[in-house]
Amino acid sequence: MKNSLIIAVDGPAASGKGTIAARLAQTYGLPHLDTGLLYRAVGMGLLDQGGTLDDVIAAEAVARSLDVSHLSDTERLTSRGAGEAASRVAGYPGVRAALLEFQRTFAARPGGAVLDGRDIGTVIAPDAVAKLFITATPEVRARRRWLQLTGRGETIAYEDMLADIIRRDARDAGRGAAPMVQADDAVLLDTTDMDIETAFDAARRIVEAARVRHGL
Ligand code: C5P
Repeated sequence: MKNSLIIAVDGPAASGKGTIAARLAQTYGLPHLDTGLLYRAVGMGLLDQGGTLDDVIAAEAVARSLDVSHLSDTERLTSRGAGEAASRVAGYPGVRAALLEFQRTFAARPGGAVLDGRDIGTVIAPDAVAKLFITATPEVRARRRWLQLTGRGETIAYEDMLADIIRRDARDAGRGAAPMVQADDAVLLDTTDMDIETAFDAARRIVEAARVRHGL
C-alpha cells in the first residue's frame, strides 16, 4: 500500500521483537499484530480438541476455523508449551495459507500497521516501508525467556530453555514453507548487549530512516 507505514519486525524467539513491535506501534499510533499468537492458537486449539501435533489435516482445519479477531496475549498462549506447539504447526503449508489473508489484510490497513513474526518482511508484507530483523545469541534469548517464564511461576531449567530455543530456531529456519530468514532489504538489529530501551531506540532510528527514504 502506497503511503502507509507498514513496519515488519521479524526474528527468532525472545530476541526482543515483540516488545519492540508493540512500542513502535504505540509510538506511531498504529495497530499491532503479534503473528506468533496465530500459530500458538492453532497449536493449542489442536491439542485442546485431543489432536496430535503431527496431524497435518486436523491442524489445517483448526487454522481455517480459527477466530482470528479474538486473539489476546494470554498466559496460556504465551506459555512454553504453546511456543513449541506453534512451531510444529507453523511448518505446515496449509496452516500458513489459512492464516495468510488475515495477516495481509491487517498489514494493508489504511495508515499502516506493525506486524511481528518470522516471515513478515519476506511473505506477508514484502513492500513494507521498514523491515527489521531482530536477533540475539541463543544464550541471551534463553535467559530472557527463562526469566519471563519463571517470573510468572512456570518451572523450567535454563538448560532446557536453551535447548528449546536452539531446537525452535533450527525448525523455523529449516522448514520449506516461509522459513525464518532475514529479508534482503531488512536491517539487522542484534540486541545481545542491549537493554530494551537501547534496543527500542535503535529500532526507532531504523524506522525513522526508512520513513525519510519513503517520504513519509
Ligand atoms: O514469535 P513466537 O515465539 O510467538 O512464535 C511462535 C512460533 O510460531 C514460532 O516458533 C514459529 O514457528 C511460528 N511463527 C511463524 N511465522 C510467524 C510467526 C510465528 O512461523 N510469522
